[in-house]
Amino acid sequence: MRGTELSTQRLRLRTWREGDLEPFAALNADPVVMAHFVDPLTRELSDEFVLDRIRPHFDEHGYGLWAVEVVGGDPFIGFVGLTWQTFPAHFTPALEVGWRLQRSAWGHGFATEAARAAIDFAFDTAGVDEVVSMTSPENLESIAVMQRLRMTRDPADDFDHPRVPDHHRLRRHVLYRIIPAGRTW
Ligand SMILES: CC(C)(COP(=O)(O)OP(=O)(O)OC[C@H]1O[C@@H](n2cnc3c(N)ncnc32)[C@H](O)[C@@H]1OP(=O)(O)O)[C@@H](O)C(=O)NCCC(=O)NCCS
Repeated sequence: MRGTELSTQRLRLRTWREGDLEPFAALNADPVVMAHFVDPLTRELSDEFVLDRIRPHFDEHGYGLWAVEVVGGDPFIGFVGLTWQTFPAHFTPALEVGWRLQRSAWGHGFATEAARAAIDFAFDTAGVDEVVSMTSPENLESIAVMQRLRMTRDPADDFDHPRVPDHHRLRRHVLYRIIPAGRTW
């Protein structure tokens, strides 16, 4: 997979390797990690997510959802990165910053640290003028990352995610936004 790689004080945001598929499938099968998704992913769906969605995004844009490695530590803790969202909604197309880490990597500030590097890349290298992030209102851990990044929410931006089934408890989403001047780091 070709693509830019980023580094922070403690982390390496890198392109994916074959060896990432197994630990990625393990975190995608963890019901706690996947509590705010419609379903945990099977090994097959987890592999497809990397091969059919993450890899083509890197091929097309040169960046995407990076595999995250702790420097001098765990070679794979999950992903943090950027995805162009084009599903029908009032704010799309939009570049989304997102994260999904294995449980052992929670509580260290890794998602926020990696997301700052991804947002810097979006503004300074990819040249976009806004980055968004979205989740279900009950995903307090993810909303806390958005708030640590000083992303801001306007309730008027809340929306029903068209890829979540009608009437599903996770269909309602909140939207957070950040512009280059909103960076505080
Ligand atoms: C969302 C998710 C990545 C958040 O993980 P997280 O560990 O809470 O967030 P961060 O990596 O930013 O870490 C922040 C925590 O690390 C703590 N921390 C410890 N050492 C730290 C350090 N050196 N620097 C910064 N923070 C540190 C912070 O105090 C904070 O803990 P707190 O919430 O108890 O105050 C994680 O819950 C997850 O993967 N969830 C499942 C997937 C998911 O829902 N993704 C989003 C879908 S929209």
